[in-house]
Amino acid sequence: MKITLNLGAVAPSVADVVVLGTFTKKEKKGKKEVNVPAFGNWPKACKDSLVGLTAGKSFNGEKGSQFFFDWEGQRILAVGLGEKSDYDAESARRTASSVITTLKSSATKIAINLDTVAVKGNIETTAGLFTEGTELSLYEFDKYLSTKKTPKTTEIIFDSKAKKTGAKKIQKAIDEALIVCESVNVARDFVNEPPNTLNSETYAKAVLADAKGIKGVRTKVLGKADLKKQKMGMFLSVNAGSAFEPQLVHLTYTPAKATKKTKHIAFVGKGLTFDTGGYSLKPGASMVNMKFDMAGSATVYGAFRAIAKLGLPVKVSCFLGMTDNAINSLATMPDSIVTAKNGKTVEILNTDAEGRLVLGDVLTYASEQKPDMMIDAATLTGACLIALGTEVCGLMGNDKKLADSLKKAASETDEYIWELPIIKEWREDMKSNIADLKNIGGSRWGGTAKAAAFLENFVGEGIAWAHLDIAGCGDSQGHLPYCPKKGASGLMVRTLVNLAKNN
Ligand code: BES
Ligand code: ZN
Ligand code: ZN
Repeated sequence: MKITLNLGAVAPSVADVVVLGTFTKKEKKGKKEVNVPAFGNWPKACKDSLVGLTAGKSFNGEKGSQFFFDWEGQRILAVGLGEKSDYDAESARRTASSVITTLKSSATKIAINLDTVAVKGNIETTAGLFTEGTELSLYEFDKYLSTKKTPKTTEIIFDSKAKKTGAKKIQKAIDEALIVCESVNVARDFVNEPPNTLNSETYAKAVLADAKGIKGVRTKVLGKADLKKQKMGMFLSVNAGSAFEPQLVHLTYTPAKATKKTKHIAFVGKGLTFDTGGYSLKPGASMVNMKFDMAGSATVYGAFRAIAKLGLPVKVSCFLGMTDNAINSLATMPDSIVTAKNGKTVEILNTDAEGRLVLGDVLTYASEQKPDMMIDAATLTGACLIALGTEVCGLMGNDKKLADSLKKAASETDEYIWELPIIKEWREDMKSNIADLKNIGGSRWGGTAKAAAFLENFVGEGIAWAHLDIAGCGDSQGHLPYCPKKGASGLMVRTLVNLAKNN
């Protein structure tokens, strides 16, 4: 979407629709208290025009309310922002989302008066938030539809009375939001792609094609022979029944002015392009949508590309473990015992607990780079949906400081995250009597953190590590207007970018 900034605006830009926001306030009407709009910095004549309309009396500025009217030949959309004290960053994203959802199929050019929708009077952050709300809402996966869902809207103008001298900063907020949202949408595209077109080989190629030309980025891909050399017995066991080569995509972003003090973050992602469960086959209904089992890798890649494109002053290494979990005569059978890259032996009691096998070896590989912190993202356990619902990302790890900074980064971007403990009893439960470890616990209870207790064994000595289970939040988000109702959410990309910003 073309977003234009118009500062020093004395009148609204000429557009198909001009959007003005208003809070609501309580007013005494006889004995009753009613909500009425608090027009704030609306042009006076425009406010008088709305107040003069009989139908306009129904508009009270409550959150989510909308009212169209004409003023001096200009179509106006009044949007309610609710109570001023409740209006925050997330309200701004959601307001932008409701505006674009209402107008995208009818208005070519939309002018939004930033002064009337500003969060705590801050035009700069509001410009970024409105860009986010708009860009994330406009996402459609219409590649396979004969009739595309192209919006009619081609331009949004942000009007503000703010002085033109502030243009650079405000423009920067818009440009940064555009980069982050583009990256969220790239991640969503990868996840939504079906498994008959996206397999480990095509996925690795697509990531390399996307990363090509990003300043400071180097790429490397390890195939089956390389993984054998690396002795990644767990990763290879998952790929054993596949028609495609396993791929370990290793990307590095080094900022222009890197010094010895530059922080080094490692991202690791589960890239299961499809999870049938293997010989521990999933029942039909549970197998549907398992194309999304690579969402962890798409999430960390999305964050990686945004960080690199923003040119943030942190070094980031990104490791994507790609394969499907399929069956042929060579597929791994339950009861198999394999040896991980770090030498530990693992009894595979359930081939459907495959993500931890891939991630374990990739975590060991990533640890060799000696990052200051390592974060993995994975659609790892169905149990995470039971524990935290579809909205909340599971967080586990071995380092309080890293966990706290992830919680802070998530809260600042209004994404939900909740930490689960890893207790010694669960570490014990992941031990086998005939191998060092087994890939499932003795019972279903606490399955999400037991998976983390397994992963922990593959984190290099002394490395701060956090694990994000996105099994719930990576998929459809009914409650979020700027996420598709059905399909990949792209959640946690913004949190990870923010974490890198905060470092
Ligand atoms: N990819 C699944 C986890 C999953 C399930 C994500 C449902 C999203 C929705 C994972 O590989 C898996 O199958 N895990 C098993 C683990 C079990 C066998 C210990 C699960 O959650 O049932
Ligand atoms: Zn599985
Ligand atoms: Zn899986």
